[in-house]
Amino acid sequence: MKIAVLGAAGGIGQPLSLLLKNQLPKGSELALYDVAPSTPGVAVDLSHIPTDVSVIGFTGDEGLVKAVSGASVVVIPAGMARKPGMDRSDLFKFNANIVKGLVEAVAKYSPSACIAIITNPVNTMVPLAAEVLKKAGCYDPKRLFGVTMLDTLRAETFWAEATNTDCRSTRIPVIGGHSGTTILPLFSQAAGYSAISAEQIEKLTVHVQNAGTEVVEAKGSGSATLSMAAAGARFALAIVRGLNGEADVVEPAYVASQSGYADFFAQPIVLGKEGLKDYLPIGKLSDYEEKALNGMLETLRKDIKQGVDFING
Ligand code: LMR
Repeated sequence: MKIAVLGAAGGIGQPLSLLLKNQLPKGSELALYDVAPSTPGVAVDLSHIPTDVSVIGFTGDEGLVKAVSGASVVVIPAGMARKPGMDRSDLFKFNANIVKGLVEAVAKYSPSACIAIITNPVNTMVPLAAEVLKKAGCYDPKRLFGVTMLDTLRAETFWAEATNTDCRSTRIPVIGGHSGTTILPLFSQAAGYSAISAEQIEKLTVHVQNAGTEVVEAKGSGSATLSMAAAGARFALAIVRGLNGEADVVEPAYVASQSGYADFFAQPIVLGKEGLKDYLPIGKLSDYEEKALNGMLETLRKDIKQGVDFING
């Protein structure tokens, strides 16, 4: 199976490619693309790691065609990252045309690929990509995903720290989107929830919602790259496992939704041979979560509309 990473020489792209080189199934082909001329060199570097995954790096317009042609999975971390004082939505004007161009290439040269978008603002980039694919006549909602995995990793990590439990066995669904209050961790579904005070739940929720900003402020010149690469790799590998016919592959993603909340919505899904196989129910919400869900919907719908309008005018 061929997996392409678009934006592979960047802060997320490089560690993401490293994780994929080490963890993709035997015989996989990893194609790296970036506008940076160093991209073929990044591939040479990775190719010295002894795994049974071939790596090849491309740059330039023709390189993009070669990178995406025949890919089953395309992961997109390309684009500009936040700086202190910026919101994810501030990146739209920088990243919209980048994602549009890359998705147009996927539509043309690998129209049935599963696409996983990491580029921010994810809430807007995924609907934008859907419109690009619709225009190209190859939109399949089962094959387009926004990567919200990092919100889940953060929720599980922060919960395990707060409750002194093992993060590897903690499961917390995170629903909504991938920005500010649209990120809603459902701590009420965690084991041990009843022992935690309402104040602690609120503190943990806000911590997850602001975690990306926390990294941006701590770094001073960029956003999360390493944890995002871990999240992106875990999600890409889950797509690959599903495509390969593995049963019960469940991970969260921001996808075209049947929830009725918004046209795109993050929730746990089952991945299968065609991409998205099933939506898992979001389960019972506490009153606090119910209120937070209702409170986020206007923002989420506005974010979605911005992506749709960008393509359709
Ligand atoms: C994150 O959640 O860390 C990423 O979306 C990057 C950002 O700008 O916050």
